[in-house]
Amino acid sequence: MKLILFGPPGAGKGTQAKLLIEKLKLPHISTGDILRSEVKNNTGLGKQAKGFMDAGKLVPDALVTEMVRKRMQEPDLKNGFILDGYPRTEAQAKALDDILKGGIDKAIYLSTSERVVVQRLTGRRVCPKCGTNYHLTNMPPKKDMLCDKCQVGLFQRPDDNEATVKNRLSVYLKECSAVLDFYKKQGKLEDVSGDLDSGEVFKIISEKILAL
Ligand code: AP5
Repeated sequence: MKLILFGPPGAGKGTQAKLLIEKLKLPHISTGDILRSEVKNNTGLGKQAKGFMDAGKLVPDALVTEMVRKRMQEPDLKNGFILDGYPRTEAQAKALDDILKGGIDKAIYLSTSERVVVQRLTGRRVCPKCGTNYHLTNMPPKKDMLCDKCQVGLFQRPDDNEATVKNRLSVYLKECSAVLDFYKKQGKLEDVSGDLDSGEVFKIISEKILAL
């Protein structure tokens, strides 16, 4: 199964992807995670992407699409994947159809209000080792700002400050309707409220949409 998770920053794409990979046993591809790793390793792509990411802007289509094209050639994706963070523009949606030939199976849209997005992202904390997301009030770690699994200190993403979050949201709003229309026309769009509790969102996706 080839699934896309789409929605504003903070909609819970990463959180739902981590729950779904357990159930579907499929690889999770997050363009945000790949780009952050390129930045951390100071690669050529990372150097080009960093300024855009820090400002909450989109990394240019050509760079991200090339990265996705390479990833899609890897053998672990032969039974499908859960793709989070791509496509974000109509050009990316068209490029993905071109890369995959037969296109995707479903695009799950987590529609989420601005108030919820800002509250979630400014309170998000991440484990540097396993990438698990926590939230200061919604999903706090069991003790002392340490990851429940790895016992290492959590950190705040540099693009999770309020000003950058608002910029990410406005960039998203400018591009999202074209991507939604693209998948609506193909009859592949599934709409779920991302404002709901993450357990409820997961239940709707797994039972109503994917019939798991
Ligand atoms: P990316 O990493 O993809 O960021 P994003 O889309 O802004 O999404 P987030 O990761 O911030 O949020 P999420 O929806 O995954 O929410 P999460 O589950 O973490 O991209 C970062 C940057 O990379 C972009 O700005 C851009 O520069 C670049 N980039 C990436 N892809 C690109 C592309 N295709 N083209 C161009 N540029 C690209 O949840 C957030 C918080 O809320 C967590 O704390 C979580 O614990 C909590 N939470 C989640 N769900 C719930 C819930 N239901 N109830 C309560 N709390 C919840």
